[in-house]
Amino acid sequence: MRVLAVRRFPGPAWDELGDVEYLDGPLVERRPGVEVLATVVSVDAAMVDLLPDLKLVANYGVGYDGIDVAACQARGVAVTNTPGVLDAATADLTFALILAVRRRVVEGDRYVRAGKWGSGWAEPFLLGDEVSGATLGIVGLGRIGQAVARRARGFDMRFLYAQRHESGAAADLGAERREVDELLAEADIVTLHVPLTDETRELIDARRLGLLRDGACLVNTSRGGIVEEPALVAELVAGRIRAGLDVYAEEPDVPQELIELSNVVLTPHIGSATGKTREAMTRVLVDNILAFERGEDPPNRVA
Ligand code: DGY
Repeated sequence: MRVLAVRRFPGPAWDELGDVEYLDGPLVERRPGVEVLATVVSVDAAMVDLLPDLKLVANYGVGYDGIDVAACQARGVAVTNTPGVLDAATADLTFALILAVRRRVVEGDRYVRAGKWGSGWAEPFLLGDEVSGATLGIVGLGRIGQAVARRARGFDMRFLYAQRHESGAAADLGAERREVDELLAEADIVTLHVPLTDETRELIDARRLGLLRDGACLVNTSRGGIVEEPALVAELVAGRIRAGLDVYAEEPDVPQELIELSNVVLTPHIGSATGKTREAMTRVLVDNILAFERGEDPPNRVA
């Protein structure tokens, strides 16, 4: 099958596909004959139209909210993703943000680099909040949410979780279920791990952000669209809460107000960005394509 890729994906598995065509910019011209599109995050209906022989969109990533699944389905195009292999890396980054925000690590780094460190011990400065013993609220106790909870155990944290259905893993993790509103009002740290769908878009809206406790920390490594971003910016500008954000509503745009604030730590959508994880994602992507080429149902078909 003719495979068109938005770029070369890392790791040895990629070479198993043989000859691959690459896009050297946005897809703007019809490309008849292309049957598989290997892509990252975004495919719209216009792209599907420009590929009249397309049969499979193989997404490099677990979240496929950027893929117009309805347009693919209307054309009989299958869609696959790469779940399971990025849970640890994303949970690690979530924890890095929790620690960085609560212990003001980035502010401390800037302080040292700016040469401001003088009589530090003479006055209370850069006082943060404990992570150990804090109450962690996990919105979405799926694979990544559970991986975060396992890490949090080492910090003697109390766990709450919110999701539509009771989680089979909750008892083992010692996590108590709450409604989203209750969780927001009770947790010291809230971390978001739900996919972006019509149901979860702006799940954490202005009203719900207002439920967070003063000084609470909100961490988002899922999708920016889960939070009503202007309302989050307003809460942060008011200085009432702190946040660690890896994802934004309109990536790569980050609201200018956030860039100027010290109570938010910002990273550029790097949840899965470790060499090992990115190679494992390529393995899963390629396995999906090879299975499809053999006429089998790909292991990670989502549509
Ligand atoms: C994912 O896998 O969904 C990551 O966020 C990368 O897009």
